[in-house]
Amino acid sequence: MPNLLILAGDGIGPEVMAEVKKVIGWFNGNGMDFEVEEDLVGGCAYDAHGQAVSDATMEKALQADAVLLGAVGGPKWDKVPYEVRPEAGLLRLRKDLELFANLRPAKCFDALADFSSLKRELVEGLDILIVRELTGGVYFGEPKEIRDLGNGQRRAIDTQVYDTYEIERIASVAFELARVRDNRVCSMEKRNVMRSGVLWNEVVTQVHKDRFGDVQLSHMLADAGGMQLVRAPKQFDVIVTDNLFGDMLSDVAAMLTGSLGMLPSASLGAPDAATGRRKALYEPVHGSAPDIAGQAKANPIACILSFAMALRYSFDAGEAADRLERAVEQVLAQGTRTADLIGPAGGTPVSTAQMGDAIIAELGRAA
Ligand code: IPM
Ligand code: MG
Repeated sequence: MPNLLILAGDGIGPEVMAEVKKVIGWFNGNGMDFEVEEDLVGGCAYDAHGQAVSDATMEKALQADAVLLGAVGGPKWDKVPYEVRPEAGLLRLRKDLELFANLRPAKCFDALADFSSLKRELVEGLDILIVRELTGGVYFGEPKEIRDLGNGQRRAIDTQVYDTYEIERIASVAFELARVRDNRVCSMEKRNVMRSGVLWNEVVTQVHKDRFGDVQLSHMLADAGGMQLVRAPKQFDVIVTDNLFGDMLSDVAAMLTGSLGMLPSASLGAPDAATGRRKALYEPVHGSAPDIAGQAKANPIACILSFAMALRYSFDAGEAADRLERAVEQVLAQGTRTADLIGPAGGTPVSTAQMGDAIIAELGRAA
């Protein structure tokens, strides 16, 4: 029986996850048999155990077939020690599960093209995939500290570090995914300033030459890449980049599609040598949105589409994933909108639960 660990987290996390649980319930009533367990991560885990994620929860995450995460953080925990801040729970999950490949699709739904900060014609039909390296680079490099220099000055140090194997494996994931899309990869780094950018560029080029000559590869400096993303985003298919650039560029790409409330993500590990299964964590790209938490306003679609990615990448259930994605598209086409999707023309928003129910009704219709 496939087993899911749900870590709903803080803020709107539990609200949007409640809708995912309904969707899982629907699939369980229609031939699937997910076993669901729930636990704490982020600020709520800190409140309960003094840790952003406990060892017991980590153990469950290591055993699970997939982890579904809502969101972590909020102003309530602004003053907690750096080591146990809510985000530390998320970073520990990524690191200890070795989820080095973060897939962030940015797809523009037709019904929402007018919500983009760019003109409709620039984003209509947009479908790009950012493949972000997630367990290396400046997020985890040592030393990482603030040193007292003893002369009234302090020195802050973060370390950007990449080994060959880390670049090889993320590049391979990007090339493999490109093959089942439009077969194009653009690699982004800052080789004009950073040694890690020089190595990144060389290794991606080598992996391409050795194993993926059939895929079209281009390189861009990450700043120019950011500029091109807002100038002409449809030129891209797959973008592969490091942890920090990927963090920034994926937020940019997200906004192109109209709403951060729409975007899912998958974080994957290497396939297990014996079973072929990858460790995986799925989460919406939006954060915990404390400003709207508890108001039944949040858009559950990003979290629901993250479950669709789990169906596709962890459970080999591509058809079920397609079906869930189609249901979301249908519901949007019918004009059902949460508050974040109400444009200048106005209209009455539905609640988080009403959006979830509408998607489930549509799933049933497609049956
Ligand atoms: C993201 C977030 C995280 C990150 C934070 C919450 C630590 O911004 O997933 O993009 O920086 O990776
Ligand atoms: Mg981010």
